[in-house]
Amino acid sequence: MRSAAMTDFIERVREASDIVSVVSSYVPLKRKGNNYWGCCPFHQEKTPSFSVNGDKGLFYCFGCHAGGNVFKFISLVENVSFFEALKLQADRLGMPLPEEEKSPEERQRDEHYNQLRQVLQMARDYFHNCLTKTEMGAVGRSYWASRGIGPEIISEFSLGFSPNSFDKFNKAFRQRGISEALLLEAGLVKNGERGGVYDRFRNRVMIPIADERGRIVAFGGRVMDSGEPKYLNSPETTLFNKRRMLFGLDRAAKAIRTAEKVVVVEGYMDAISLAAAGIRNVVASLGTAFTREQCRLLMRYAPEIYFCYDSDAAGQNATMRALGILREVGAKAKVLIVPEGKDPDEFVRRQGKEAFARLIDEAQPVVDYQLNYLFGQAQLGSESGRQDALKSVLPVLYSVKDDVVNFNLYVRQVAGRLSIDEGLITQSVSRYRPQPEYTGGGQMNRSGAAAVRSGQQISGTAQAAGDKTASKVRVEQSVRSAGRVIVRQLWQDAGALPYLLAEIPLEDYPDPLIGGIIASFAKDAAAGRELSESSLDEAAAAELSRAVMSAVPGEDLMGLFEECIVVIRRAILQNKYEEQRLLADALDHKGNTVEALAALREASRLKKEMDGLDSGKKFSGN
Ligand code: UTP
Ligand code: MN
Repeated sequence: MRSAAMTDFIERVREASDIVSVVSSYVPLKRKGNNYWGCCPFHQEKTPSFSVNGDKGLFYCFGCHAGGNVFKFISLVENVSFFEALKLQADRLGMPLPEEEKSPEERQRDEHYNQLRQVLQMARDYFHNCLTKTEMGAVGRSYWASRGIGPEIISEFSLGFSPNSFDKFNKAFRQRGISEALLLEAGLVKNGERGGVYDRFRNRVMIPIADERGRIVAFGGRVMDSGEPKYLNSPETTLFNKRRMLFGLDRAAKAIRTAEKVVVVEGYMDAISLAAAGIRNVVASLGTAFTREQCRLLMRYAPEIYFCYDSDAAGQNATMRALGILREVGAKAKVLIVPEGKDPDEFVRRQGKEAFARLIDEAQPVVDYQLNYLFGQAQLGSESGRQDALKSVLPVLYSVKDDVVNFNLYVRQVAGRLSIDEGLITQSVSRYRPQPEYTGGGQMNRSGAAAVRSGQQISGTAQAAGDKTASKVRVEQSVRSAGRVIVRQLWQDAGALPYLLAEIPLEDYPDPLIGGIIASFAKDAAAGRELSESSLDEAAAAELSRAVMSAVPGEDLMGLFEECIVVIRRAILQNKYEEQRLLADALDHKGNTVEALAALREASRLKKEMDGLDSGKKFSGN
């Protein structure tokens, strides 16, 4: 259980935090009266309903009802647990988590991460030295040169080369005393078929992948001929989560802020090549689909995101999907069109920096791009094809319906291309109803609003629980609500898990949904992982986000947690009590008087235990 000193640390970090400046680093704010206002980062809106009060240290959105203190804000906007948010903010303020406040497991985990990071950093230096200082690196040097990458960029990006050998790397690192287990975990070596391990990266030019703070988390390795696979990447590890990573962000951050826009390309070669040409506000999405996490990350650096994916079909599809995510998250975007099917790397090497800068200036507004794309897919030769095309562009027109001037321009454009009357198109748009949004990862935000509203109901739980005449339905409701508080506490502080499990055996847990979440947490903890929602099914994950978002500012979390454990224990006893009563009736009915009496005695023992719970209560839940 978290100590009083920890509670004190949380308080000190909160006091040292200026919520206005924390929020401003994510959301532009304007002062109005006592509060600061901006557009809510947790739901899409055009007029600001999101307010921050510096004196009280709180934020609240009148649109979606998300609200809370600085840690709540960080945990929502960064999509991390309360505890992670605390650590992040403490770190930013240079307030180290007191060592003695960390549990032995936490200390061990930190130590382990440090080792992992050190190994990755050493690997980066090793590959870089191989490239720049050894005979065998000559092939690598000429490969980079053939792509127009000279010594300056090689040194700036710490580019490297992995030797053409099955175990050179492994041997070198084992000799330095690095364990095989660590090398495996870092993804630098692989298990062989016949035992032993071998080097993952062999005879490739190496590109270190760093996180936002410049710490190496992975590598990409490219073959130097036409071999397969063209790129080999480190596997995802505890430190390397592709969904949250953008290649080059650490080096590009300053240029992105200055330019107030960021260019997103598909490949790290594109990003490196653009940097070599002097275009610095560029990141690469590591060849995977653009994610909400990446979108939110970028929104912290720049108000506008420019997509520059390859102009092949795959790249265009990926762009359309990315634009959907941007709209959902509420980011502004444009699309760069690289002519003649070239990728940004080829283009900038042939045409130069100025030509690429022009592509940025001439980037297409999202709506134009979407319309062009959809018309490109359409069969405009037939009446039914034109009708289908109209259907496909309705969501796009709908998205600009509030922007009157542009709306009319786009309607005219669509009318012209489809040879359909403008009035008819306007009518279709006004009848159009958007499909319910995809709720994949976005559900955190939407359910956040619902959960904040349900805060009322959760604090009402204590009353329901104290009320012994509560009906069965109310008991179940209170069990669910108490479960939410418990789950929320665990999510914020995994250290509370052993205590909970000692108080409530998992197999007794009366609510299968919440019980399932706790069981999954217990599994994570037993495996030494951070608690995660990744192994939960959809219903459980939604329930978890609802629970996590429902924190009420200023609530006494530990007090509530204990209280809720009592609620659950009482529910368990109540169920067992009712079972015994039913059993006693049934036995009595059959004439088994002795056994019936035993069941009744057990029932009354359970009753006493319940009474004991009530008198032992620390918190009256008035
Ligand atoms: P591309 O195939 O477009 O490569 O993959 P590229 O950027 O043009 O690279 P060059 O110019 O041929 O060297 C784009 C991204 O997709 C991922 C990588 O992240 C790459 O940067 N990718 C591609 C892989 O992970 N593995 C592959 O085999 C290919
Ligand atoms: Mn390329």
